[in-house]
Amino acid sequence: MSTIIDGKETSAQIRKEYAEEVKELAKKGIVPGLAVIIVGNDPASAVYVRNKGKACQEIGIHSEIIEMPEDTPEQKLIEEIQKLNERKDIDGILVQLPLPKHINPSAVVDSISPQKDVDAFSEVNVGKIMLGRQSFVPCTPAGIMELLKRYNIDITGKNCVVVGRSDIVGKPMAMLLMQQDGTVTVCHSKTQNLSEYTKRADILVVAIKKPRYVKANMVKEGAVVIDVGINRFENGKLTGDVDFDEVSKVASYITPVPGGVGPMTITMLLKNTITAARQNRENN
Ligand code: GUN
Repeated sequence: MSTIIDGKETSAQIRKEYAEEVKELAKKGIVPGLAVIIVGNDPASAVYVRNKGKACQEIGIHSEIIEMPEDTPEQKLIEEIQKLNERKDIDGILVQLPLPKHINPSAVVDSISPQKDVDAFSEVNVGKIMLGRQSFVPCTPAGIMELLKRYNIDITGKNCVVVGRSDIVGKPMAMLLMQQDGTVTVCHSKTQNLSEYTKRADILVVAIKKPRYVKANMVKEGAVVIDVGINRFENGKLTGDVDFDEVSKVASYITPVPGGVGPMTITMLLKNTITAARQNRENN
């Protein structure tokens, strides 16, 4: 049986540490500020945004949620971002994705000042990750790295297989594992004989949005399995991309869904916002 990596408990512990950091900053007159912009009425996005605001509030970070209508022109959204770029009390700016179809997400994300891009999705911050000079790391891969660290899982020299090549998870995940001296393979929807790769993984990260796709016969005995998938069945129940019941019998460590990677994502947003406040304000 495997050890279950408890993202909820780890996340709660880390948030306590961050609350202390925020208190220390307050003594210097610094209250980190995060602005979250949501365009349109996507119900899932609305929940995520509300949770982000709540998490900020709980540890003393100032947050503002800016709601814009579905038919907002791209230029108007960019103007709103430019105003936030200028504000001294706002350290982090996040535009919730997906955006309505008439808006080009790259143009929007790249209009966020790189010093305030706490999602690390902009060209500049993606480039920094490639070079290993990042100040912000995208929240989901950052959360996974933090879980591996806190469970003392060594990456050096390990076969790390990332399944999924998205800009938000797969690509930055591969970079971070490589920075920690992992031997990294990235697989995706066009990979042939996927299980030949997954079976060689010491650390397997799966982010493909396919419910319970990874089965026990695709996983090496003793592997560390990280499940990024959040798939919702019609009855509302959540499941990951990994068949937890099967795979937990062969893995050494495994993240559950819910309660694994998910809770860490917002925690890393808090981290990036605190980092931004330090960088933007501590020596100014
Ligand atoms: N939509 C789904 N995940 C994310 C995320 O991490 N950041 C933003 N801005 N939007 C998202």
